[in-house]
Amino acid sequence: YTEKFEKMRIAGKLAAQTLDMLTENIKEGVSTAYIDKLGYEFIRDNGGHSAPLYYRGFTKSLCTSLNHVVCHGIPTEDRILVEGDALNVDVTAIINDHYGDTSRMFCIGKTSVKLNNLIDATYQSMMKAIKILKPGIKLGDIGHEIQSYIEEKGFSVVRDFCGHGISTTFHEAPNILHYGTKNTGMELKTGMTFTIEPMINAGKFPTKTLSDGWTAVTKDKTLSAQFEHTVGIKEDGFEIFTLSQENLDQPKYDL
Ligand code: MF3
Ligand code: CO
Ligand code: CO
Repeated sequence: YTEKFEKMRIAGKLAAQTLDMLTENIKEGVSTAYIDKLGYEFIRDNGGHSAPLYYRGFTKSLCTSLNHVVCHGIPTEDRILVEGDALNVDVTAIINDHYGDTSRMFCIGKTSVKLNNLIDATYQSMMKAIKILKPGIKLGDIGHEIQSYIEEKGFSVVRDFCGHGISTTFHEAPNILHYGTKNTGMELKTGMTFTIEPMINAGKFPTKTLSDGWTAVTKDKTLSAQFEHTVGIKEDGFEIFTLSQENLDQPKYDL
C-alpha cells in the first residue's frame, strides 16, 4: 500500500494547500463564487483538477456551506460574506488519478461564542476519532468517539451524510458514520483510505435538501459546522493526508 499512500499524500497535500491559499482570501466582502474561482485556478495551476466540478451535475469546484447550511452549499455571486458568518469550504482535488478531500471552517470577523464553541467541538471530535485509528479497531469505534463527545456538549451529529472510502474514486466503500456503538461494524485494515468529516448541528440532527438539489440545511435552522480530513491506516496507526502545510488546520476566531 505504500505506493497508494504516496499518491494519496500528493492529492491530500494539494487539497490542503488549496485551503491554505484560500484562508487569507475568505473575508468580509467577498462572494463565495470568488472563493470558488480562486480554488479552481489554484488546483488547475498545480497540476490537478477539482472533483466536484460536473460531479453528478454539481456546477462549481468547491462546496461553500454557510451558517445553517450543513454541506454541499453551491458558491454564488449573490452571497457576500459578512461579519459573524461561519463558512465551511470543502475542497476535493484529483491528481494522478487519486483524490484528496478536506474541509475547514472559516469565521468572518467576530463570530458568536455559541458558534465558536460549535466549531471547536466539531474540530475536536474529528481529531479524537482520527487519534484512535489503527488496524483492528472497528468502524463503530469511530462513530462512538465523535457521538459521545458531541452529545456531551449538547450538540447533535448529522445522520444524513457520512464519510467515505476514497482513493482512485471520490466516494467508495465503506461508509464512515459519525455516530455508532463501540466494537461494532467492519474492522479497519492496514492500507484502507477514507475520510472523516463530521457535520455537527447546534440543534437537532435532521437536515433537508433545498430545491437546487444540493444545498443541505438544518431542518430546525440552527447552525452547523464541519471539518474533514482524508486519512490512511498504517501498521502502527494512521496518517493524515490532508494536513495543512502552514498549520492552519485548527479553527481560528477573532475574540
Ligand atoms: N467533498 C464532499 C465530500 O466530502 C462531496 C462533495 S460532492 C459535490 O464528500 F458534488 F457536492 F461536490
Ligand atoms: Co468527503
Ligand atoms: Co469533502
